[in-house]
Amino acid sequence: MNEQVWRLAVRAAGTSLDVLSGAMYLAGYEGIEILPSDRDDDDRVTVRAYALTRHGLEELARVAAAVPGCEVGRIEEIEVEDWAEGWKKYFQPQRIGATLVVLPPWVSPKHYPDRTPIVIKPGHAFGTGTHASTRLVLEALERVRPRVGTRGPVVDLGTGSGILAIAAAKLGLAPVTAIDVDPEALYEAQENARANAVHLLVRTVEGDAQDVPAGARLVLANLSAPVHRAIAGTLAPRLQPGGRALLSGLLEDEVEGIVAAWPDGWERRVAVLEEWALVEFVAPS
Ligand SMILES: C[S@@+](CC[C@H](N)C(=O)[O-])C[C@H]1O[C@@H](n2cnc3c(N)ncnc32)[C@H](O)[C@@H]1O
Repeated sequence: MNEQVWRLAVRAAGTSLDVLSGAMYLAGYEGIEILPSDRDDDDRVTVRAYALTRHGLEELARVAAAVPGCEVGRIEEIEVEDWAEGWKKYFQPQRIGATLVVLPPWVSPKHYPDRTPIVIKPGHAFGTGTHASTRLVLEALERVRPRVGTRGPVVDLGTGSGILAIAAAKLGLAPVTAIDVDPEALYEAQENARANAVHLLVRTVEGDAQDVPAGARLVLANLSAPVHRAIAGTLAPRLQPGGRALLSGLLEDEVEGIVAAWPDGWERRVAVLEEWALVEFVAPS
């Protein structure tokens, strides 16, 4: 059914996008679209907010106009087909495993009373739950959670948006250290941690596994195969006896190379989703 609605477009990037999505979160917007620029040299995105009244967008336009770096368009009245269904296709919450759901900030977790919500704001850091490599870790985390010991750090190496670290914290694990080579990713991870009311320790690293705290009981790492190969020898000794590493970001044919780089004698299991694979290693007790 066709309906008249109001639309406001704002172009934003980086911190301005963070502030904007925070304002939308507080305002409780439900109809949002995010479109990448069609120019390679422009890393801004266009955020389109929809509301059933013009008034509903005026406050957002005022907030966006005050955020440095945001370019605010006009509020327009448009006709959309099947409004209620239309916006959902862009921001479908991701149900993952039996108990998790990843949500953008403007979808209320109350729609998923039987799931543990992980709220992720749109940002630049990788990790919204749509990529198979992220889903593989979340599903494995849910599966191994009952067997994870009670002592020792839990580490998310290559945290990006913080999605895996936040999931670990939401599943009751602490302390959780989120590590990344990219300080901006850590900023976004902290913002997301706040939106989920969980606490993360964060660490910026230069690019090896030296900063993984010793005696880790669980390491989550969604990284590329060359990084996994490069850090295997440093990472493995940092796990406690019986500790687990969930290594993702691998194509199926890259698994053997990782197994070869890892020390002998560890129990291992491989999970596959689409063309992506996860290797779970368990340290000898
Ligand atoms: C594929 S993203 C994974 C994001 C998120 N953990 C997820 O699963 O969706 C990989 C992240 O690892 C970071 N990274 C790359 N090499 C790294 C290294 N050697 N040590 C720590 N972080 C690294 C990147 O900056 C990026 O944020």
